[in-house]
Amino acid sequence: MDSRPIGMFDSGFGGLTVARALIDLLPNEDLVYVGDTGRYPYGPRDLGEVREFALEITEHLLLNHDVKMVVVACNTASAAALDELQQITSVPVIGVIEPGAAALLEATRNGRVGVIGTVGTIGSGAYQRAVVQNSSAVELSCAACPGFVEFVERGETDSEQVHVLAERLLAPLVDADIDSLLLGCTHYPFLARTISDVMGSDVVLVDSADATAFRVSDMLRSANALRDGAEGGGVHRFESSGDVEAFRSLGRQLLGPELDEVAAITWPEARS
Ligand code: DGL
Repeated sequence: MDSRPIGMFDSGFGGLTVARALIDLLPNEDLVYVGDTGRYPYGPRDLGEVREFALEITEHLLLNHDVKMVVVACNTASAAALDELQQITSVPVIGVIEPGAAALLEATRNGRVGVIGTVGTIGSGAYQRAVVQNSSAVELSCAACPGFVEFVERGETDSEQVHVLAERLLAPLVDADIDSLLLGCTHYPFLARTISDVMGSDVVLVDSADATAFRVSDMLRSANALRDGAEGGGVHRFESSGDVEAFRSLGRQLLGPELDEVAAITWPEARS
């Protein structure tokens, strides 16, 4: 048994989709979530800069919260930094790309699949590599969707404007006749209704949240590192590097009642 918390982070609200899945699957686990809203969006940034942010947040989670595992609940940060984090960190580090790619390959029937993500994620080629590694037989179409994250961070998930943008950005994927689409950015599940309206109801939308939560659960179980349920339900701590009140009110709408308080965090926190 290991009663230390699980640490996780994203540029903002997106990783809450993974936090929701983790809380549902492992309700006894303590969680520390960092939403780096002061520096969002990560998607358009240079991957080297995102890597620095990921290292800084991971160091903070280890030094200040003594986490037993780090979940990089952000595709852009996973693409930029997962390998390095896994090499230099003393606890297991898990990203969302590999679990998401595996879930996508399980979902497809016709072998034509799509991935959408930020400019950084799609440009990194991380999904192209992850999908081919698992199955060379599929035909993969990828599209970056700049602008989607900003709509989610504003709490605008179902407006006419986001619909118009989705029609434009997703047009190549509609033409590619895919049967399964991976939401390769943790913010995008909040836009699932709009994306599904545009793609059509025959296209299965896959996200990495559940697959990642199952991966975390398997890893902790096999290392005998789950928290003892007899100690009571898990405590969930949320931190934001941006406007904490805005994070609390929109975060609560997006995640649910577990998001009750938000603590402010400033950088460089871990290295000061
Ligand atoms: N939610 C993140 C991702 O999965 C980051 C989005 C952003 O900040 O641009 O890629």
